[in-house]
Amino acid sequence: MSEEKKGLSRRDFLTAGAVVAGVLATGQILSNKGVDVLSKAFAGESAPAWPWPYKKLDPEVVRKLGYQGYFEGGCCYGAAKAMLTELRNKVGYPYTLIPEDMFRYGEGGMAGWGTICGALNGASAIINLVSTKESWNPLVNELLGWYTQQPFPSRLHDSYSKFPNQVQSVCGSPLCHVSVTEWCAKAGVKVGDPQRKERCGKLTGDVAARAVELLNLQADGKFVPAYKPSEEFASCLGCHVGPQSTLFNVQGKMNCVQCHEPHIK
Ligand code: HEC
Ligand code: HEC
Repeated sequence: MSEEKKGLSRRDFLTAGAVVAGVLATGQILSNKGVDVLSKAFAGESAPAWPWPYKKLDPEVVRKLGYQGYFEGGCCYGAAKAMLTELRNKVGYPYTLIPEDMFRYGEGGMAGWGTICGALNGASAIINLVSTKESWNPLVNELLGWYTQQPFPSRLHDSYSKFPNQVQSVCGSPLCHVSVTEWCAKAGVKVGDPQRKERCGKLTGDVAARAVELLNLQADGKFVPAYKPSEEFASCLGCHVGPQSTLFNVQGKMNCVQCHEPHIK
């Protein structure tokens, strides 16, 4: 086999080069957002160091955006997009660099597995993005704790909802499985019903709005953790969870007695 056949011939090489140059030149003209971001990155607009700058947002604006976003790409996407959209409006760059589509994976507790509620997942990603190494954990912990004790959905979407005044439930868990399944049982609807989607749309907005309230408190230096585990399972933690516990043999802060029989009276 000749040298020319093995690799690119000189003519092929020139053609390939012309194609690459052409793509780079038209990058700006193509109305494709991805190409736009790429060409900006090439121009030296790289991401700044973490944490990214935060400006206080209006929780009620974010609540409605979260509800709307849910119907475009699910709960994780809806919560993240609502916060990103307002950060783009208030701060602009660097929030223009993040595609909300990367948050689609979280729907239904991650691709429908019913693990962590996607609204918590998406909102927590943005909390993390704008918080410090020390502060993201207490804020995310507060958001999850609040979620487990909150009656969902709130009534704050009722003016534009197709299903106002829906049944509310406190699910006691950050798991999509528990949250959705128990609500459906209480409301007497199936998981695929439009009422259930409406409920999760509202919940998405409610979680994103709560995340913004927590971030606003943090911005004012007024955030004080308030979540306490309920009496039902607070005692379990003392023996099983955390470095201060006697056994330290359990990973997790969820309500133990939703899944285990208490063995100590
Ligand atoms: C006073 C300490 C203490 C408290 C409080 C406590 N546990 Fe335990 N738990 C233990 C010990 C000790 C074991 C046995 C550990 C072993 O043998 O490895 C155990 C075992 C378990 C096991 C393993 C299965 C079994 O039954 O042996 C589960 C599940 C469990 N505990 C759940 C709970 C839950 C839920 C609560 C709260 C309602 C709770 N524990 C409260 C000390 C405690
Ligand atoms: C969402 C359900 C769920 C929750 C909430 C939960 N667990 Fe579990 N836990 C499980 C499952 C499932 C297993 C593994 C199956 C098994 O061994 O029973 C397990 C295993 C355990 C074991 C080991 C059991 C063994 O056989 O040795 C302990 C101890 C335990 N859990 C304690 C706790 C404590 C304490 C809490 C609260 C902080 C808790 N769990 C919350 C579902 C749960």
